[in-house]
Amino acid sequence: MTFNNLLVTGGCGFIGSNFVRYWMAHHPESHIVVYDKLTYAGRQENLADLWEDSRLSLVVGDITDLDAVRRACQEHQIDLIVNFAAETHVDQSILGPLVFTDTNVRGTHVLLEVARELGLRLHHISTDEVYGHIRDDHQSVETDELAPRSPYAASKAAADQLVQAYAITYDLPVTITRGANNVGPYQYPEKAVPLFSTNAILGEAIPVYGDGLQMRDYAHVYDHCTGIEAVLLRGEIGEVYNVGTGREMTNLEMVDIVLETLSKSHDLVRHVTDRAGHDRRYSMNVDKLRALGWQPRYDPKEAVAEAARWYADNRSWWEPIRSGEFREYYERQYAERLAGTAQ
Ligand code: NAD
Ligand code: DAU
Repeated sequence: MTFNNLLVTGGCGFIGSNFVRYWMAHHPESHIVVYDKLTYAGRQENLADLWEDSRLSLVVGDITDLDAVRRACQEHQIDLIVNFAAETHVDQSILGPLVFTDTNVRGTHVLLEVARELGLRLHHISTDEVYGHIRDDHQSVETDELAPRSPYAASKAAADQLVQAYAITYDLPVTITRGANNVGPYQYPEKAVPLFSTNAILGEAIPVYGDGLQMRDYAHVYDHCTGIEAVLLRGEIGEVYNVGTGREMTNLEMVDIVLETLSKSHDLVRHVTDRAGHDRRYSMNVDKLRALGWQPRYDPKEAVAEAARWYADNRSWWEPIRSGEFREYYERQYAERLAGTAQ
């Protein structure tokens, strides 16, 4: 299967930009239109070396704007929409949840409407958070009930259900991937691994929520990209596929890997007030994706270490971010939490 013209929404964000880079390197026949609102997390410089390439173009727009999405699809003769565009940070969804419903639910709905009208395939990027927190030693399979517990997760679950409803009602050719916690290049430093890495490099405190024994499957973004590719090329229309390593670690183990990789002291770690409604454990079974011939390149330890190294080697990418608007968010999220925790 080949795709001529892809509309990659959210292509200036962390996973979207890694996907664009991966797809252009492995599918030279395709043209890609990045459709992005350029929120704080959407950064044109993530693809700085590729904008000169005639196979890539940028449309700055909002996925909730139906006319603009339709126009972009028609003008560029799009045959596949890959939807990465979203508000993505759980802590931001606790501070200000409404934009999560606007973008993640209504925005996805708009894309489905345009896909229906123009007869396009749509691939939707979802998350393991839609399964809620996973008890005992269960691993989520794609048919498990959705049980989201944060405003972010709830908005993503609603989007999944709209995508599945369009497949059933209108026979729209859709697929969904549900990704684990991604780490790697160009991840905005609000997320734990880049936040902890950059704080460690700067010699600042590392704010671990609660006891730090929450479990996550830290998967390298490269493996997410190859997983999406496998589903686009060989996945069954109408189906959902989990994408992760299938192995989780505690946040304290993740912190140890970051500190060891960067040769920094454990004295930086501070246990701070927990995230409201913090999901204790995510864990997914990825056999369905493996059956398509996919396997991850990185185990979770290598993924975290490789990500930490990237932040050490790419200060020019994150230093301007951390000294800008990010500071205001950081103060709001951490000032009170960190006050009085000095060792
Ligand atoms: P990100 O926050 O780094 O980037 C999101 C991108 O979407 C940005 O470029 C932003 O400008 C764009 N965007 C936001 N609102 C928009 C709107 N209304 N219209 C157009 N563009 C808009 O996100 P990410 O971490 O790369 O996540 C990408 C997708 O993968 C999301 O759907 C997320 O839910 C999902 N996901 C993320 C992870 C993870 O660990 N980061 C894991 C599983 C799934
Ligand atoms: O699981 C997939 C999800 O992974 C994606 O759908 C989300 O878009 C992405 O943000 C991520 O969600 P998490 O909430 O799991 O990731 P985050 O990096 O925010 O946090 C990872 C873990 O670290 C989590 O247990 C919370 C904890 N944490 C996070 C921050 C920011 C801390 O202990 N301290 C922190 O300061």
